[in-house]
Amino acid sequence: MSVSLKFAILVCFASVVKAGLSLPGLFSVPNTFPNISACVSQPSFFSCENTTVITNTCCSPTPGGLVLQTQFWDTYTGLEKRGQLLPKNSWTIHGLWPDNCDGSFDQYCDLSRQFDPSPSPAILPDGTVVPSYTGPPVETFIQAFGRQDLLDYMNDFWVSQGSPNTDFWGHEFSKHATCTSTFDVACYGPDYRLHQDVIDFFDAVVRAFHQYPTFNMLAAAGITPSNATTYTLPQLQNAIKAQTGSIPFFGCTTNGTILSEIWYFSHVHGTEQFGTYKTIDSTTPSSCSATGPIRYLQRTPTSERDVRLFP
Ligand SMILES: *[C@@H]1O[C@H](CO)[C@@H](O)[C@H](O)[C@H]1NC(C)=O
Ligand SMILES: *[C@@H]1O[C@H](CO)[C@@H](O)[C@H](O)[C@H]1NC(C)=O
Ligand SMILES: *[C@@H]1O[C@H](CO)[C@@H](O)[C@H](O)[C@H]1NC(C)=O
Ligand SMILES: *[C@@H]1O[C@H](CO)[C@@H](O)[C@H](O)[C@H]1NC(C)=O
Repeated sequence: MSVSLKFAILVCFASVVKAGLSLPGLFSVPNTFPNISACVSQPSFFSCENTTVITNTCCSPTPGGLVLQTQFWDTYTGLEKRGQLLPKNSWTIHGLWPDNCDGSFDQYCDLSRQFDPSPSPAILPDGTVVPSYTGPPVETFIQAFGRQDLLDYMNDFWVSQGSPNTDFWGHEFSKHATCTSTFDVACYGPDYRLHQDVIDFFDAVVRAFHQYPTFNMLAAAGITPSNATTYTLPQLQNAIKAQTGSIPFFGCTTNGTILSEIWYFSHVHGTEQFGTYKTIDSTTPSSCSATGPIRYLQRTPTSERDVRLFP
């Protein structure tokens, strides 16, 4: 190899390394975020624990400071034939919800960012009709930002039951992220690029989901999916509390006998985009039987696929 060719390769390698920080990627510095330099001068607090009035709602979710990272344990998707499969050895993402500090919540807060093909509810408590979205699926927004990495991850871990994944993502964004003040378009300043807030929300959901590896935490306490064994609610609660410090919400179907959901409650320091989550106990009583046996079902093998769990 000639000296000049070696040099050229070296230069090329060096520029790749230098550019590394700005390359889009799941855990690299994203190129999409609200202007958090405006937050530097704000008081320091966890959401719902502020002792003075929050003046810059771009810096802390307000009023939705009770943040829930929600997950599903589904045993099938209903769209297996289309290749929509569940990730082996992992729960799946439901969303990242901004409850108000008292546990109440708002939904579909900005109909100019309505990307949900099947709004639920279709009529809000105040009578407002939420129109069905018929535009390009939100996955095309992700592609337009060159974030195939994010899209691949979401297709692995943010899997819908009974509808295409992209419709479910549109639903979660429109119903919940539009009520999360830190994703307001106004927070992005004059450099806002269309749908930046959508990509940013999806990134934030993935980051939050990574803090709560439910499958692994339960498995580490000997609680694994089984069609032969049952568990109790205190067993499930204690396994998670031992790792997060708080009791999440456990959701069950079929009269509280089949485990299907978990919601991690938290307060966040700073924005949901970058903030640190501090878990708190669930403010919603479990829908699982308090005393009876609970089934944590094995999935149908053809509903699952291998995924890379920690990219
Ligand atoms: C971000 O906020 C800072 C501090 O408030 C301000 O000086 C700057 O102009 C803002 N940048 C954008 C792009 O809005
Ligand atoms: C926290 O901030 C919210 C929103 O600005 C405000 O309504 C609430 O009164 C604040 N809490 C305290 C104790 O100041
Ligand atoms: C749930 O439990 C109640 C009371 O034991 C019973 O009447 C009902 O049939 C059960 N429903 C299902 C779906 O198992
Ligand atoms: C476990 O039971 C559920 C519910 O009956 C069923 O759908 C699933 O296929 C079973 N899984 C295995 C591996 O037997």
